[in-house]
Amino acid sequence: MARQADIAAEIERLRGGINHHNYSYHSLGAPEISDAEFDALFRALKALEAEHPELVSEDSPTQRVGSTPLTSHSQVTHELPMLSLDNAFDEQDVVDFEKRITTRLKTSESIEFACEPKIDGVAVSLMYEDGKLVRGATRGDGTTGEDITQNVRTIESIPLRLRGDDYPSRLEVRGEVYFPRSAFNRMNALAESKGERTFANPRNAAAGSLRQLDARQTAERKLSMFCYSVGLVEGSQLPGRHSEIISRLKTWGLRTNPLIEVRTGAEGCSSFFEGILNHRESLDYDIDGVVFKVDRMDLQAELGVLTRTPRWAIAHKFPPEEGISTLREVEFQVGRTGAITPVARVEPVKVGGVTISNVTLHNMDEVERLNLMVGDSVVIHRAGDVIPKVVSVLVNKRPENARKIVLPTACPACRSDIVREEVIAKCINGRRCRGQRKEAIRHFASRLAMDIEGLGEKLVEQLVEASLIETPADLFGLTKEQLVELERMGARSADNLLAALENSKETTFARFIYSLGIEEVGESTAKSLADHFRELEPLRNSTIDDLQSISDIGPIVAEKIVRYLQDEDNDQLIEALVAGGIHWEVEAERELDQVLEGQTWVLTGTLSSLTRNEAKARLQSLGAKIAGSVSAKTTCVVAGDAAGSKLTKAQSLGVSVMTEDELLQLLVKHNA
Ligand code: IVH
Repeated sequence: MARQADIAAEIERLRGGINHHNYSYHSLGAPEISDAEFDALFRALKALEAEHPELVSEDSPTQRVGSTPLTSHSQVTHELPMLSLDNAFDEQDVVDFEKRITTRLKTSESIEFACEPKIDGVAVSLMYEDGKLVRGATRGDGTTGEDITQNVRTIESIPLRLRGDDYPSRLEVRGEVYFPRSAFNRMNALAESKGERTFANPRNAAAGSLRQLDARQTAERKLSMFCYSVGLVEGSQLPGRHSEIISRLKTWGLRTNPLIEVRTGAEGCSSFFEGILNHRESLDYDIDGVVFKVDRMDLQAELGVLTRTPRWAIAHKFPPEEGISTLREVEFQVGRTGAITPVARVEPVKVGGVTISNVTLHNMDEVERLNLMVGDSVVIHRAGDVIPKVVSVLVNKRPENARKIVLPTACPACRSDIVREEVIAKCINGRRCRGQRKEAIRHFASRLAMDIEGLGEKLVEQLVEASLIETPADLFGLTKEQLVELERMGARSADNLLAALENSKETTFARFIYSLGIEEVGESTAKSLADHFRELEPLRNSTIDDLQSISDIGPIVAEKIVRYLQDEDNDQLIEALVAGGIHWEVEAERELDQVLEGQTWVLTGTLSSLTRNEAKARLQSLGAKIAGSVSAKTTCVVAGDAAGSKLTKAQSLGVSVMTEDELLQLLVKHNA
């Protein structure tokens, strides 16, 4: 049998390895080993500890999750109060903030600010004594919070033991615990599939998870943390700048936000704000603004604090993504496939920086799910470029004269009957319905389809109303004489439209398929069809089985495609379009451009929409070499979420950096 001392050494070696890989993964965002290899280390440690319980220590990575639920959380009094932040809502507020600072400091020089994303989570304090995590607490009212030690111990990105040996003997670290969006969505999807209660947003879910009395529950929610400041520090001195303190925290294994930057003056702060606002949707966590902090600690001390907020920091908040409005009316519109869609007309309201007065309600099931009535106060959500949506109704504000929303019995465009097929209500009149025709033509002309410049909704409406066109194919028979007869159409506009129509004839097979507006065939399915069949005839003759052999096409979509192609009117439309001159080049067997030949790429951080292996394979298919570390020879670094040292290195070497979105655009552009 191995000697006790050898076993103890092996246990320490395994713990060291696990802590190191936890740090590489969570803090640096640059894992060095696979999940399976990590699990193997973890299992080996667990097995040894099970054989030698006397060697188990509190800060062993196996001891994150306790098994005895608490009956309540005890109170914790913060040794230094946990402050809050004053808010800025526009650039002027930030200019005023800097002015107050320079006036107070009696200086005319611009101030350097550490600029950070403002994480929308739960503020937490962690106390480390001699490098060991001894207590976790909520902010509470700033003076007194709750002891959540058991809960924070389960969060893998929070070290139980600090790295290195130059940390203060007592160190209180503060930061924000949050629920990563990806983990939150997974959890909610699972809860929904089981018919369980779902959480409204990641912040509420994080707060609820942190306060669980049974820490095993917290462990199941994959929470994470970004550290953004220190509280109590005893036993050694920290650096003189906030940004350096953040770097120091990182060397001790604490997770800090990779987007933190030092900028000069209100101007620098505002450009940081813009950058983060544009980046917001690609992050795996919610942020509700950015925070600017005077970087020099001596200046922070000189500025001091007001009652609850420091004079040296401010939060510049993003415009809210939710707004409240009143539902004035619901109108029904007919789409190109005959689907009748309820559209909410609401009192104009600013949400996410944009004024909104129309919101699609998708279908009657949605109206019923929301329990929506005309006259209701509604909560509208709009994030980034995503279409706005009604997320809830304030039922207790419902006026007495609120009116039920009823599906009309007749199509709003052609007065034919409407039938309800499961969720979807449909006009039964098919292509004889003017509304459907207009929508089909509008879709045909749209940017991602045939991209006919200048042929927008209004003009399509005019052309159909004047009975000049019935189908998309009729567009190509239009004459200048017919066009100039239309209201607001001069000779120049008519010429432009005819030229645009002529131009659009040269297209791609994928665009052509997409432009037909086959139900369920969006841009990417159209592309798969084009790649698979390459030519029109094989597509026209395809069977459900042929179609289902294409990777992203399932039975429902296959059936819709076959049904579309078997319809005589559709067949004639396709004939007429080709006879009218629409053509595309038949691509040879797809050979990818080696556009990245001779280049070296590095992937770092967590990618959200594709795996690292997939990204690697797709980049390689374009000729790139993938390297594990950044050097001056690196062509480009793709920085996913929580990218760490590789990103910093790339920036310091001036190597170009790409976001995940930009990578996707590049891959799509080159068909990789
Ligand atoms: S600094 C004195 N930095 O925002 C400074 N706070 O309204 C105190 N927050 O309670 C906080 N991200 O929960 C700071 N990078 C960041 C932050 C941040 C999120 C939260 C924190 C605080 C609240 C202030």
